[in-house]
Amino acid sequence: MATDVHRPVTGTPHRGDTASQDTRGSADTTPAPPAAPPGTSDPTVVRVAGLTRAFDGRPVIDRLHLDVRAGEFVALLGRSGCGKSTLLRILAGLDRDIEGTALVPRRKAVAFQAPRLMPWKRVWRNVLLGLPGKPERGVAEHALEEVGLGHRAQAWPKTLSGGEAQRASLARALVREPDLLLLDEPFGALDALTRVKAQRLVDELWQRRGCAVLLVTHDVEEAVLLADRVLVMEDGVIAHEQRIDLPRPRDIADPRFAALRTGLLERLGVEAPPAPSTPPPKAA
Ligand SMILES: Nc1ncnc2c1ncn2[C@@H]1O[C@H](COP(=O)(O)OP(=O)(O)O)[C@@H](O)[C@H]1O
Ligand SMILES: [Mg+2]
Repeated sequence: MATDVHRPVTGTPHRGDTASQDTRGSADTTPAPPAAPPGTSDPTVVRVAGLTRAFDGRPVIDRLHLDVRAGEFVALLGRSGCGKSTLLRILAGLDRDIEGTALVPRRKAVAFQAPRLMPWKRVWRNVLLGLPGKPERGVAEHALEEVGLGHRAQAWPKTLSGGEAQRASLARALVREPDLLLLDEPFGALDALTRVKAQRLVDELWQRRGCAVLLVTHDVEEAVLLADRVLVMEDGVIAHEQRIDLPRPRDIADPRFAALRTGLLERLGVEAPPAPSTPPPKAA
């Protein structure tokens, strides 16, 4: 997989060199690891060091460190409000008001819980939205086929089901040919069955495309099902890390799966639901 030169989320590129490897964050005080020179195969696509983001003087992210390898699937768990979306927005380049360093690949794409389709543009035009140059319709159609939505290219967004809209949003991410795919609770609003299908689709796309994925989710089972590594965010940092070495496709009935799930739930301070038991006998 061709990984582009690392780019800082903030920092000014060297003059006349827009693809430069400026490793400075906005504070310019944290020494960052050197970015890989172009053409070399540095296995790390995301390097975050000493990252801090504060709102009204309150740090939500507080000197956070994170590395993601090329092609790695990482899931990010954490309580509501702990800063997961803030971190994702920074990595997506949507929030640049940071201290510390965040190096990300040039080619990255993001999909949110809400598909964010423009209602006045047909689905295929939505997929191409914001792409540089004048990409042809075929580019959108190809990505839509990849997510099983080729037959809806001409449709208006309001005629799509929730699951279809989310797949269109994934197609819009894929046309960017990302080395890093950022997903912020993309299945959160889907019903259970559609959610399972969407999870399988993301798994397939990841395996086919070989890009790194950072998936924010509140669903521990989803994290164990999909990720190579599960991170738990707490107090502004990555407080816990769990490698998932189970073979794929994963079986939620596997006792090792259940053990990992229980361990993560405990780490999150949530009690695992009790194993199904036989109902008590009815009183006569
Ligand atoms: N633009 C903003 N202005 C002020 N506070 C914000 C802003 N964005 C996020 N926050 C606050 O930062 C904290 C983390 O938010 P967020 O990253 O959305 O949490 P999570 O995604 O983990 O649920 C929350 O307390 C939220 O209110
Ligand atoms: Mg969030």
